[in-house]
Amino acid sequence: MITVLDTTELEEGSCKGLEIDNKYLFAVKKDDQIYLYWNRCPHLGTPLEWEEDKFLDPDGALIQCFNHGALFRIEDGHCLAGPCQGKNLQAVPFAIEQGLLMVNESDL
Ligand code: FES
Repeated sequence: MITVLDTTELEEGSCKGLEIDNKYLFAVKKDDQIYLYWNRCPHLGTPLEWEEDKFLDPDGALIQCFNHGALFRIEDGHCLAGPCQGKNLQAVPFAIEQGLLMVNESDL
């Protein structure tokens, strides 16, 4: 397992873009739960954020792709609207140990 994030750095309602060996992920914290996805839009396979660590819509309720505005549920990455409606962001399995978010290298 490798540590990718100190969860104390991730505030409620915010996101953090992560790079590990040229692979890009992002973490979101909502209602004290953390979600981890590949930073790859199912529409064109491009990164989603419009600014560093900015992955949410203006209300902070949904993940929004900067490119063409696709909206995804934070909890499961399901696309609710936009050109990839019905598709999903790909979640990355993780564990949290002593406040550190860790992933298996084999999952990257
Ligand atoms: S690349 Fe994300 S909506 Fe088009």
